[in-house]
Amino acid sequence: MLLKNKDLIGLHGMPEEEIVSILDSAVAMKQYLKQKAKKMPHLQGKSVVALFYENSTRTRLSFELAAKFLGAAFSNLGVSSSSVAKGETLLDTGKTIEAMETDVIIIRHPYAGAPKLLADHFKGSVINAGDGMHEHPTQALLDMFTMREHFGRIEGLKVAIVGDILHSRVARSNLWGLKKLGAKVTLCAPKTLLPQGIEHMGAAVTGNLKEAVGNADVVMGLRIQKERLQGAYLSSSREYHSFFGINEQLLDQCNKDVLIMHPGPVNRGVEMASTVVDAENSAIDEQVTNGVAVRMALLYLLTRRSHDEN
Ligand code: CP
Repeated sequence: MLLKNKDLIGLHGMPEEEIVSILDSAVAMKQYLKQKAKKMPHLQGKSVVALFYENSTRTRLSFELAAKFLGAAFSNLGVSSSSVAKGETLLDTGKTIEAMETDVIIIRHPYAGAPKLLADHFKGSVINAGDGMHEHPTQALLDMFTMREHFGRIEGLKVAIVGDILHSRVARSNLWGLKKLGAKVTLCAPKTLLPQGIEHMGAAVTGNLKEAVGNADVVMGLRIQKERLQGAYLSSSREYHSFFGINEQLLDQCNKDVLIMHPGPVNRGVEMASTVVDAENSAIDEQVTNGVAVRMALLYLLTRRSHDEN
């Protein structure tokens, strides 16, 4: 199935069948990924540029590998060593990248709305790799892929998302995507880390961790975003862990088959105990692998769309 839009800015409003189409396509991509010779021709002749205004390990690297495994030319613009540091605007940078016949720009930006602004002025496809506190759609797609691979379905799953919901673009994208596919989402955080009006976004909301995880199929921890926590959000990391940390005592109160997830990077001992990160029912490493497969699928579907239009 073709994607309706040339860009992926967020999962809010994305049709269910398009989400399912990306997840289905990622199943085949994961099989390619597991082959010894990871060289497929799906993106031959295409060029992909990563434009990251914030740090990243997983997202940037997995997009690079995904593009290269599918045969695209890939380039990473190191923003701190580029003309952005001389004051070049986002749109002028986009225009420059466009003039080099680029098909896809993958952008991460501290400001919500930056990927949409770029997409409105760039002829090729723009993929949002995380914008401020807005969305991180490819993270949510890989999370949903991981859940579907593990349980065989999304519909009816009970998913508890625990941590810094206020600043989390991962939580927002997961909420939109999971709801669309029929999961039941519970958000759990201290009051200071919950956005206003969250109770109207279609999830159950609680400050009681045991209640949140009690009958959950999936417990997803979120990173305490130290770089965005300027103010009196938390008294201390230790106190946070004692009330909201996902540790072995908490796991004892969960379903024995509960799936533990985290988008990474993890602050071990803060939002999640080290033993839980590395536990048998932790899918954190599998999420990283699935991130490559999902991004291969997305790059393929978006570039096939432009190919079919020409
Ligand atoms: N999950 C995630 O976005 O990780 P990175 O910041 O390493 O890309």
